[in-house]
Amino acid sequence: MKTILTGIRVNSELTLGNFLGALLPMTRLANKYSDDHNVNIFVADLHTIIAEQDGALQDNLLMLIKMYLAAGLKVNENVHIYRQSYVPATSEMTWILNCVATMGELGRMIQYKEKGKGEDSCNVGIFDYPVLMATDILLFDTTYIPVGQDQFQHIELTRDIAMRVNHRFEKEIFTIPARTAEQAKFMGTDDGIRIRDLVNPEKKMSKSAKSANSKIMMTDEPEVAAKKIMSATTDSFGEIKYDLKERPGISNLLQIEALVTNKPLDKVVKEWEGKPNYGDLKKQVAKSVEKMLTEFHNKLNEIEDKEVFALMEKGEKYANKKANAKLYELQKAFQLR
Ligand code: TYM
Repeated sequence: MKTILTGIRVNSELTLGNFLGALLPMTRLANKYSDDHNVNIFVADLHTIIAEQDGALQDNLLMLIKMYLAAGLKVNENVHIYRQSYVPATSEMTWILNCVATMGELGRMIQYKEKGKGEDSCNVGIFDYPVLMATDILLFDTTYIPVGQDQFQHIELTRDIAMRVNHRFEKEIFTIPARTAEQAKFMGTDDGIRIRDLVNPEKKMSKSAKSANSKIMMTDEPEVAAKKIMSATTDSFGEIKYDLKERPGISNLLQIEALVTNKPLDKVVKEWEGKPNYGDLKKQVAKSVEKMLTEFHNKLNEIEDKEVFALMEKGEKYANKKANAKLYELQKAFQLR
């Protein structure tokens, strides 16, 4: 059985970008494929501590799993939910792969360049982040990794590391994940999902944006979120067109509408392209987002902590067994066993 896997860092607040770029696609893919695929959904708590936490990490972690359930995730025996740090083989394998990945490769990672900014005070975890991510993926012989477009570079690096190890030991130790073009296709997109900042649509929607109008948080009141859509930056061409380069604002709204309503993007684009009235489109998207958030908040309130703990404990048993076996294979290759 092939494996589909994704992780999300624990966050006090998830943006609509995280939700539409990773959490919701993963939920839909899990529901579609879990009869004959392994589906691994984990909380990247080790990745989370690259930034100092405010003391609510454990509460936020539970909330993250609840969000998958509220988004409609159906759990069967092939769906495995776990905490990254509860699978200790992860840290062990990361060290070994640190001895395979190069400084040059890691230094070229965009996320490192943006977050580390070349400063001496940047912690080593920020630099090493992609090796830990490669480990998460390779421990479980993963083929598909539903993530936002910003993570594609890390998937390419993971492939390079895996191929290098297999080549060095002339053995198929690791399954090579699908290329990013194939990943995008698997997620039903041309080149991955990148939800834009509502005020500056050239940028991706990010929690760190200064203006509250730039981002929709999954905790936003539905009416507040709707207002943010209504005030989104568009363009002055006077005709709706899907063109991410020239018209990122309006294209972003079309993409949000498609993802929220679970309609193919081409269909939504066909419905709106050529029309002059940007206001009508905004109203439609605002309505869709408001409805989605209302239903989502209602479901979120119904899920109890104990349900989440039970799922994680079960998932961790499975994950440890699998991960320990893969780690042992790698240790053998490196003559550590
Ligand atoms: P994190 O927590 O930074 O982001 C979680 C997911 O949200 C996606 N995302 C977006 N997608 C579309 N538009 C946006 N504006 C947007 N902003 C964020 C990210 O691409 C990501 O999928 N490194 C991972 C966590 C991780 C992981 C893994 C993922 C750790 N190990 C192994 C897959 C496999 C990350 O960026 O998380």
